Amino acid sequence: MISRIYSGSSGCFRSSYVNWVHCKRFRLRSINRLNVISSCLFIVLAIICGYVYLYEAVQPVILTENTTIDSEDDSKGVCDLYDGTWVLDESYPLYNASQCPFAERSFDCLANGRRDKGYLKWRWKPKNCDISRFDVGDTLEKLRGKRVVFVGDSLSRTQWESMICLLMNGVDDKTSVYEINGNKISKKIRYLGVRFRSYNFTVEFYRSVFLVQLGSVPKRAPKRVRSTLKLDELDVVSSKWIDSDILVFNTGHWWNRAKLFEMGCYFKVGGRLKLGMSTMSAYTTALTTWASWVENMVDTDRTRVFFRTFEGSHWSGQNGHTCKVTQNPMSISSTRDYRSRFSDIIRSVVNNMSVPVITMYVTPMGSFRSDAHVGTWSDNPTVPDCSHWCLPGVPDAWNQILFSYL
Ligand SMILES: *[C@@H]1O[C@H](CO)[C@@H](O)[C@H](O)[C@H]1NC(C)=O
Ligand SMILES: *[C@@H]1O[C@H](CO)[C@@H](O)[C@H](O)[C@H]1NC(C)=O
Ligand SMILES: *[C@@H]1O[C@H](CO)[C@@H](O)[C@H](O)[C@H]1NC(C)=O
Ligand SMILES: *[C@@H]1O[C@H](CO)[C@@H](O)[C@H](O)[C@H]1NC(C)=O
Repeated sequence: MISRIYSGSSGCFRSSYVNWVHCKRFRLRSINRLNVISSCLFIVLAIICGYVYLYEAVQPVILTENTTIDSEDDSKGVCDLYDGTWVLDESYPLYNASQCPFAERSFDCLANGRRDKGYLKWRWKPKNCDISRFDVGDTLEKLRGKRVVFVGDSLSRTQWESMICLLMNGVDDKTSVYEINGNKISKKIRYLGVRFRSYNFTVEFYRSVFLVQLGSVPKRAPKRVRSTLKLDELDVVSSKWIDSDILVFNTGHWWNRAKLFEMGCYFKVGGRLKLGMSTMSAYTTALTTWASWVENMVDTDRTRVFFRTFEGSHWSGQNGHTCKVTQNPMSISSTRDYRSRFSDIIRSVVNNMSVPVITMYVTPMGSFRSDAHVGTWSDNPTVPDCSHWCLPGVPDAWNQILFSYL
């Protein structure tokens, strides 16, 4: 639909250009009736075209489950939410992390001493459409009576925190928003659930960094095996995720050799150790397990399922241990992690599924934001961090995209 309108208007411009050339040639001769008529025609056409063009350009796109890409003609006008740029927006940031009890201290960069504030001012703008402006009252109403569940690693926790902070801005009585068990946020906590009492909904987080289940060590295993990961079994707490309205997954940052080696962790499939299995092949197996779990266990008529792709980090230097947070986003040509093998696997596994699941392809958008990481402005400045993001920041854009699907 969108692309058709767009190509329609560019066709219109083309014809008015022809008309203009036409007019000019006439003017070189003498002024006659034909000239006057064609000039008028040209002006009218130009006004109509300009109007159509502007009108279309400012209309936000309302997303439905079918906001798919119109593939029948040119790819120019296609609305791809994940293909765009960051634009300056003076109305940003959308909240003050120091006033949000659910933004953890290690992500509140301003409170931890960051001085430059430019990084707070960027809004994500898809190339061929707009994400509808975040309207807190409207979003709170849409979530009334619902259960939102995030599952994954600390990057999911950040998105959970960002969502609560965004929504709390629209709630007058801040004490009506509370963690169900009175728990405080910590890095290893397995479950957090925040309830918005006046709107009767919860936003929950389950820590499950691999999504699949940690297993026991077989009796005759080599000494180096200290734990295992059952690639063909989903996390034991997965039954708690099912009964939800919005379900958002991620996993990726823990699937690296250094982390797994540190844990003495090896893969298991069908009860057997797979000592030589590559991380990427294990990741694919785990995601396939996840996919069939969704297909068999989740009622996708009720639950909208999302999978957020890998969030690019910005480590640099020879060993990839250097973290230099810039003042401005990077240009497209200097982003290193524009693509990621994790994201490619996620996209192909989700494409193969028999039920609707939305891939939130946030990898490219994050890759520009070398300015938005926690760096040394965390609760522990001695350990620089080029993986996590400051709040407010990039995770707010993930949530705005998520809200636009509601
Ligand atoms: C989405 O597409 C399906 C099949 O093409 C159609 O049946 C359904 O009504 C559409 N939904 C919306 C909200 O347009
Ligand atoms: C955020 O709130 C804190 C605490 O109320 C305040 O000191 C600070 O100035 C605020 N920051 C901004 C950028 O408004
Ligand atoms: C709260 O939401 C739940 C789930 O949708 C619903 O069953 C319940 O009736 C709601 N409670 C109130 C007080 O509206
Ligand atoms: C997707 O399905 C095709 C056909 O069944 C299969 O060959 C391919 O390996 C699958 N890809 C993934 C990533 O699961």
